[in-house]
Amino acid sequence: MTIYIPEDKVSEIKNTADIVEVISEVVVLKKTGKNYVGLCPFHSEKTPSFTVSPEKQIFYCFGCAAGGNVFSFLMKHDGMSFPDAAKILAGRYGINIPTTTMSPEQKRRMSQRESLFAANRQAMEFFRKKLLDDISGRRAIKYLKKRGINKEILDKFYLGYAPEGWENLLRFFTKKNISLDLVEKAGLIVPRKEKSGFYDRFRDRIIFPIFDLNMQVTGFGGRVMDDSLPKYLNSPETPVYHKGRSLYGLHLAKMKCRENERVFIVEGYFDLLALHQQGLQDSVATLGTSLTAEHAQLLKGFIGKDGRVILVFDSDDAGIKASQKSIEVFDKAYINAQILILPDGYDPDSYISEFGVEAFLDLVSKAKDIIPFLMDSAVKKHGLSIEGKIRIISDMEDALWSISDNIRRSLYIKELAECIHIDESAVLEKIRKISVRNRDRAKRPIRANTDLGRGHRKTGVPDKAQEKVFQGKWDKLERQIISMMLQFPQILSEIYDRNILDLFENNALKSIGQTLLTHKDDSKLQVSDIIDLFKLKEQKNMVASLAIGENVWDHEACIGIINRFESIRKKNENKLLEQIKAAEKDNDLDLLAKLLNQKQKMALLNEKKKMALLK
Ligand code: CTP
Ligand code: MN
Repeated sequence: MTIYIPEDKVSEIKNTADIVEVISEVVVLKKTGKNYVGLCPFHSEKTPSFTVSPEKQIFYCFGCAAGGNVFSFLMKHDGMSFPDAAKILAGRYGINIPTTTMSPEQKRRMSQRESLFAANRQAMEFFRKKLLDDISGRRAIKYLKKRGINKEILDKFYLGYAPEGWENLLRFFTKKNISLDLVEKAGLIVPRKEKSGFYDRFRDRIIFPIFDLNMQVTGFGGRVMDDSLPKYLNSPETPVYHKGRSLYGLHLAKMKCRENERVFIVEGYFDLLALHQQGLQDSVATLGTSLTAEHAQLLKGFIGKDGRVILVFDSDDAGIKASQKSIEVFDKAYINAQILILPDGYDPDSYISEFGVEAFLDLVSKAKDIIPFLMDSAVKKHGLSIEGKIRIISDMEDALWSISDNIRRSLYIKELAECIHIDESAVLEKIRKISVRNRDRAKRPIRANTDLGRGHRKTGVPDKAQEKVFQGKWDKLERQIISMMLQFPQILSEIYDRNILDLFENNALKSIGQTLLTHKDDSKLQVSDIIDLFKLKEQKNMVASLAIGENVWDHEACIGIINRFESIRKKNENKLLEQIKAAEKDNDLDLLAKLLNQKQKMALLNEKKKMALLK
């Protein structure tokens, strides 16, 4: 479902928004030559292959082939629709989109996401008002004071209070004539089981609104003020709230994370507030869930390639479990993660309030990388008796095995062997065994292949493969021609006049070329506009990949390539004639039929070309 955004507004946004600026918010970019490069936010990588061109206002990743313009970036990165992306950008660059000119029908079709955000925002304002109200909010304010939250943090995080009673928010939305189905979809009210109607999900709780990077309210957390259960209640998964993707506080942490190339990850809402209050704004909290690959990817965009993640966990046992779980996530994202375990019975919030931030920072300086931490813990737990050593190895097996980098893995294996005084090869043998076991179960996820197939060709390949190689070359020439059409539009009329596209074998490339030709007289069209001419994601990616190169084209070189392409094509034609003769001689009727068919196709093409020349 879409809302209508006038064409002129779309162009205005496109002309005003700067792709480097927008992407910089979520990816650390470095200038190299004319372009910027960074770690791709769409796949895991160690060396940057994600490229942004300020000149062409497009991006392309040479690793995973994602590409597009500023709209496609927001759509892909934040999972939003085109109108949503346009609205976000318009808001950001102060461009006014006249919603008043929308027809009732268009209004009705306002995207669901947008309506959910709107409902959440209204709920947030409602909770806020209840907190600040002298009567309804008194207990809540008292509770927050007791927890040491100051006014500044309370405002910054827009904390609120959901009053006692079953129908407060329900009545609020009913009065506003807002569809209760929508409010239910937002997770704010729950249908009654026995009879019809709904009741409020959050009742008599401190409310923590959860924001996304665009400051939209995606969901809520709520804490009771006494010992009743559950202590915390969170929004359910909704079309706009996914806990595996949300990090509490990230909208306020992102700048500091970038500046310090560091992020603290804590588990609780109050822990997060405590760190922010102490000036450690480079902190986020996971919300009642273990860290996901998406979290890691998101954070990496802010801390950059060499940034560090510091997991702050409550006490040893929980900390060990959580860090064991997170090893694979960080390993896959090539993130250097450390772990800080607080003394038994403390969480970041209570530790800081008792010992102060200096003591906390002292622990930070002693934080260990995850694997050494796990080793230490295993040694502490099992001791160095023979039985103990066996248990230590068995505790470490999975963690060591999940390290994908061979060198890193073998260094840690060596360290473990030395630490517990046993032969390295014995540890190695043990790890190898699980690796076989796991491989058999195909448990280990295969990492996305970031090598585009370059440089992997063997010599002495059989015919079929050779054919592929040849096709590859052929394809390359076709790609080159489309690249040239994108980057050097002066050549378009030449391509058109000589019917070069008719010689194309790759249909995907051909159709891109055809679209370019239909717009060949529109001199105002920029690469970033051209991307919008294509509907399919794959086409957008392909266009971005062919447009982003920093080739310097000149007319003569272009003509050279076109000539070469045509002459190869001619040579093929001659070869075909020879093959036909041979097949006739051998009386190979099947082959002959196939070859004649090809010839006919070629003849048709030539005919078309001649006609065009006569015109
Ligand atoms: N959590 C949750 N649902 C629960 C319990 C916990 O979502 N039923 C999440 C919350 O984000 C919570 C975090 O897990 O903040 C850590 O939980 P816990 O350690 O139990 O609470 P604290 O954060 O220490 O809460 P408090 O300090 O308010 O007691
Ligand atoms: Mn706590």
